[in-house]
Amino acid sequence: MNIHEVRSTYLKFFRERGHAVLASASLIPENDPTTLFTGSGMQPMISYLLGEKHPQGVRLADSQKCFRSQDIEEVGDNRHTTFFEMLGNWSLGDYFKTEQLAWVFGFLTTKIGLDPKNLYVTVFRGNDEIPRDNESVTIWKDVFGKAGVEARDVDFAERDGMQGGRIFYYDEKKNWWSRSGVPSDMPVGEPGGPDSEMFWDFGERRQDHERSEFRDQPCHVNCDCGRFMEIGNSVFMEYKKVETGFEALPQKNVDFGGGLERIAAAASGNPDVLTLSVFGGAKSVLESMGSVTYGTDPASTRSMRVVLDHLRAATFLISDGVLPSNKDQGYFVRRLIRRAVRFGKQLGINGAFASAVGEAFVTEYVSSYGELESKRSTILEELSREEEKFRKTLTKGEREFERLFLEKAKISGEDAFLLYSTYGFPIELTEEMAVERGQVVDRLVFQEEFKKHQELSRAGSEQKFTGGLADHSVATVKLHTATHMLHQALRSVLGQHVEQKGSNITPERLRFDFSHPQKMTPEQLEATENLVNENINKDFPVHFQMLTLEEAKGRGAIGLFEDKYATLGDKIKVYFIGNEATGEYYSKEVCGGPHVERTGLLGHFKILKEEAVAGGVRRIKAILE
Ligand code: ALA
Repeated sequence: MNIHEVRSTYLKFFRERGHAVLASASLIPENDPTTLFTGSGMQPMISYLLGEKHPQGVRLADSQKCFRSQDIEEVGDNRHTTFFEMLGNWSLGDYFKTEQLAWVFGFLTTKIGLDPKNLYVTVFRGNDEIPRDNESVTIWKDVFGKAGVEARDVDFAERDGMQGGRIFYYDEKKNWWSRSGVPSDMPVGEPGGPDSEMFWDFGERRQDHERSEFRDQPCHVNCDCGRFMEIGNSVFMEYKKVETGFEALPQKNVDFGGGLERIAAAASGNPDVLTLSVFGGAKSVLESMGSVTYGTDPASTRSMRVVLDHLRAATFLISDGVLPSNKDQGYFVRRLIRRAVRFGKQLGINGAFASAVGEAFVTEYVSSYGELESKRSTILEELSREEEKFRKTLTKGEREFERLFLEKAKISGEDAFLLYSTYGFPIELTEEMAVERGQVVDRLVFQEEFKKHQELSRAGSEQKFTGGLADHSVATVKLHTATHMLHQALRSVLGQHVEQKGSNITPERLRFDFSHPQKMTPEQLEATENLVNENINKDFPVHFQMLTLEEAKGRGAIGLFEDKYATLGDKIKVYFIGNEATGEYYSKEVCGGPHVERTGLLGHFKILKEEAVAGGVRRIKAILE
């Protein structure tokens, strides 16, 4: 079965058991500022697990797109990927352990065809506050027994080995689940509970045992050496953290998460998830452009896995609206593409390949994720653009790295900073290249250099900013206010990715540079111009407040939140254009000023020109007449 068949079989199985099947939520969490990405199937469900009613009922199932940025460095082995799909089913105060464990076992053994003899399970050993999960042990014995497999429960396999057991007890590091991990790390209000994991035995002791954290112990299901692979986890989410410990949630929930690719890998008998057919198209592109065939030697296999994983993740992230940039989610998209380019070079690929690989993933997934079709051109353009930009950096930076290394046979923290500040060569890449040569870059020295540099540039910018705009003539002040209004209008018309990249005002005209990947259409230009004029005509008052950086961000102010502002004192100036009495503001922006008192003074706003200044940066010239 390929992953698309496993996915549809799973959803059908749970639909037949009364579950509403939901579409995957976005990789970018909605209304959840606690995390940048959706990293598990339950994240979009959190309010329902806490007791809110779900419009689709108390039984839900889906296959959720997930991205785990913390796994970037792990990618390259046979089972870690930053992007994956998590099969999920939920009971919101409806069924509990008996149904859940029997169903998931039934799905894996009868629908996917996994042999129960190669399945092993774990349960929570218990601690001072939460009892041992004896109930799950009884259910598992019954379920395995009906399939003709005797299931003994055994404790301390991590110390004494598996001892012929089938059901193993582990502590809260392994068999407790919450978004923030073990009970002591959970914030008050966070839900969590004991869980029961299922493992597939690939049947041979793999070399990675020597690298496992349990290398001094006998192999066991959680040894993570690659022999056993976790394929599913049923969380019994029945507790909530409170000041004094835990209390029962108003309802007992089930939160199941199953690794779609890992289940398909188990079914195929090959523990390497990167051999699944879903990677086939992308792999062919890499093989035809480079000099390496997947699986011939460990180093190039690792590189190919990194490229495959990273470009698939970037494809889905761009599809969910994240463009490569230097901050927040965009930073990770940039990092994924850049790492992919670097590892691609190790496959002997010389030309650009990112968009061809992205296209192969779009083709592979479009029947399951229809939105990839409408985002196809954006995805391909963004991949190409970022790749091209980085290739230039890479060539220069690598050359310089080699030169420094030849000269001194080592790379210091200062060198790493030099590579960063002069060539934009990312510290992560310097570190990786150093590790490949058996060296470690001193991060602390790098960070110190970084700070020194920041302080120097601050000293320069203070001079520039204390006076606000150099020219305070009426014409420039008006254009300055118009610039804020234009910035806001562009964000309304084009989207929240629009950010100021530069601004230059003369008494005759304003010039505003901003991030946006394409040429604006005539319709977009007209809409922007109209929006600015409508708000000018509302004759909004303009005023400022001094706020701390945190307050300004909290009030939703846009603008250049850079350290240079913070050095002007504890507070920064935020300009509000809008109705003070009703609290309806058209624009809130960090800025030194000055501005006009009312927008009605501006007259008529007109865009003269829209053009490119650099990759992903557009420029508008406009006047007031
Ligand atoms: N939420 C659980 C997990 O991510 C199912 O493992």
